[in-house]
Amino acid sequence: MDCRTHLDVTSEEHSEKVRQLDPLELDEDLRSLPKMNENGDVAALARVLREALPPPERVASFTLPECLAAMRDLGMYLGSLKRHGVSAFDIIPGATELFQLLGRRTHMIPRDTVYHYTCWNPVGERERLYSGQPMERSLIHAVRTCVPELAKAVTVGRSLQYEDLRAPDGAAGMSSLASHITAADKAMSGVLAEVTPEFFALVLRPFFEEVRIAGRTYMGPAAAHIPLFLIDLLLWASDRGSRDYLTFCDEVASHTLPGWRERHAEWTEMPSITSRVVATLADSRSASGEYARSSARGLRKALRSLTSFRGKHLVMARRAYRAEVRLYELGSGGGSVELLEEILTLTRKNGAMVGGR
Ligand code: HEM
Repeated sequence: MDCRTHLDVTSEEHSEKVRQLDPLELDEDLRSLPKMNENGDVAALARVLREALPPPERVASFTLPECLAAMRDLGMYLGSLKRHGVSAFDIIPGATELFQLLGRRTHMIPRDTVYHYTCWNPVGERERLYSGQPMERSLIHAVRTCVPELAKAVTVGRSLQYEDLRAPDGAAGMSSLASHITAADKAMSGVLAEVTPEFFALVLRPFFEEVRIAGRTYMGPAAAHIPLFLIDLLLWASDRGSRDYLTFCDEVASHTLPGWRERHAEWTEMPSITSRVVATLADSRSASGEYARSSARGLRKALRSLTSFRGKHLVMARRAYRAEVRLYELGSGGGSVELLEEILTLTRKNGAMVGGR
């Protein structure tokens, strides 16, 4: 089976299939996870994880959706133990090999990711939660709703690689891409209204700590790993990004889906759409064309929407990472608030290049 076509978070049908699965029969145990975390009961967390690890022969017979659901559920214990200062890989024999096996089966990193924690996390009673608090549900909901839209934007972006932006299909593609990415801004508005920075900083952030597996570091299920970095690369960052942001994108790419790692490799090497539009607008013959102007409008709309998302997100990040509140200096995706400021400045600057605000 080619997992690139099956690891598709644009399809609600596929995500729902993973959400329904409970291959390790952990539904009941996971209901008590928030209580175990509240009590800091490391012994109980380690016991459930140890007993839940399936023999490798069983994993070999799992379907791909079962592998994703198994990684999702084991990952909840991995992150919980790490929050209490313990690496599961140091105390549970066979854990390293099992996480590596699930990573290989799914062509993803050997631990859970933001996709396991949001898109593939069941909704309602069976939702997997570290803290069990409504604000955690709100954050998961925000990411779960915007990722499929961003995934659709990436699919449209792929067609834009080959479309002429002075032609009807190019202009239509730009308009569709701009519409899909408004979902991130909408999700962030919901987060600002429903989640306090203190809850994120003090309760949730500690569960997203990185772990080391066989000498490599893997980040927790951070929202920073949604495919917004791909949209940036396509729109402006491939040839107008900063070294720091491009390095951050490399790290983020490794924590995403296999098909998106391919897009990352391709799109970092391509001229950005901003550069293509700037060249079109500089050419007096093409600048006045109806579709060229329409493509430029689509790009402006897209960059405005990214700027709006980033403005709101920065408010939240600044509050959560104030020296008096924070427990960690860096975000769960490995970046700093200064990096967020830099990305926002660059997004604005490129918007201005094509006549945006
Ligand atoms: C609610 C509290 C949140 C805080 C305090 C926060 C904080 C941060 C920080 C410090 C970074 C820097 C990089 C890193 O993660 O290491 C970051 C990056 C990022 N976060 Fe968040 N975040 C929050 C919620 C969200 C949500 C809900 C989303 C998506 C809907 C999101 C999407 C991103 C993205 C895409 C990046 C990469 C940088 C960028 O594209 O501007 N974050 N976040």
